Order: sequence, then C-alpha cells, then structure tokens
Amino acid sequence: MTINTEPTSSKPKEHVSWSDSYSLGVKIVDDQHKGLLNFVNDLFNHATGKEEDERTYFKSVINEVLQYVKMHFTTEEKLMTMNRFPGYAEHKKAHDEFKLVVIKSVKDFDSGEQLVLEKFANFLKDWILTHIAKVDKQYAEYFKKSPTFKMTEN
Ligand code: FEO
Repeated sequence: MTINTEPTSSKPKEHVSWSDSYSLGVKIVDDQHKGLLNFVNDLFNHATGKEEDERTYFKSVINEVLQYVKMHFTTEEKLMTMNRFPGYAEHKKAHDEFKLVVIKSVKDFDSGEQLVLEKFANFLKDWILTHIAKVDKQYAEYFKKSPTFKMTEN
C-alpha cells in the first residue's frame, strides 16, 4: 500500500465530523477515535498548498500523530487479548501494516518526496473510517455478546 501524493485539484478539503454511527460502544476507544479524527482535521486545517509551510507543520506534528496512533492500537490490542477476541492476530496485522505505511511515508517526505498535506490527511481519514467500520466493528460486536467483557484502564 502506498499513499497517493499527486497534487490535488481545487476540491474543497474534506474535514470529518464525529458521527454516532462511528461509535463502537466502548468509551475509551470512541474517545481515541475522536482524537484521531481531530488530528485529521488539524492536518486539513494546515493544508495550504504551500509545500514549505506544510512541511514545517508536518514535521512539528507527525511524531505526536504517530505516538497517538500507537497508543490507540495498544489500547485496542490489550482489550482484544484480555477478552480473547479470536480475530486478534488479523487485526494486529492491519495495525502493524498501517504503522509501517505511515513511517515509510514520513521517511519518504524526509528524503525529499513531494508532500501534499491534503493527500496525506485524506489517506489517514479514509483508512481510519474504513478501519473503524470494517475491522474495529468486529471486536465491538464480539464484546457486545461477551458475558465476561473486561475493560482496560488505558
Ligand atoms: Fe481503532 Fe483497530 O484501530
């Protein structure tokens, strides 16, 4: 998987608002997903089309984004293992692949590849929303049916 970094047209930026339809019924996870979408919107807010400004902003924020993503994945992976979710291995693989794609993109941008912040924000938004709807939803359904569901503190 690679991120399309071709320049965008003059389409309006596609900010994303939290919708109850994204809720998985696990508060800590919903709160972290809201946090991820806040990062996405912040990226859109800084997508000016001026590459130098976008690079300065990107460098200032990308480590924080990565740490937040890792923290979120750790929370979910802990919940899945604590509750013996059978789809854990496949889900963790999706998390690991996503982290590698983001890390590779950061390296590519550091090496001089053109950075189009709006494209990067769109990639994050699409991945997060699709992952919530198709992958996270699987453990949420499993937890709902579990009579012994255990919650993590972080
Ligand atoms: Fe919410 Fe599996 O990431």
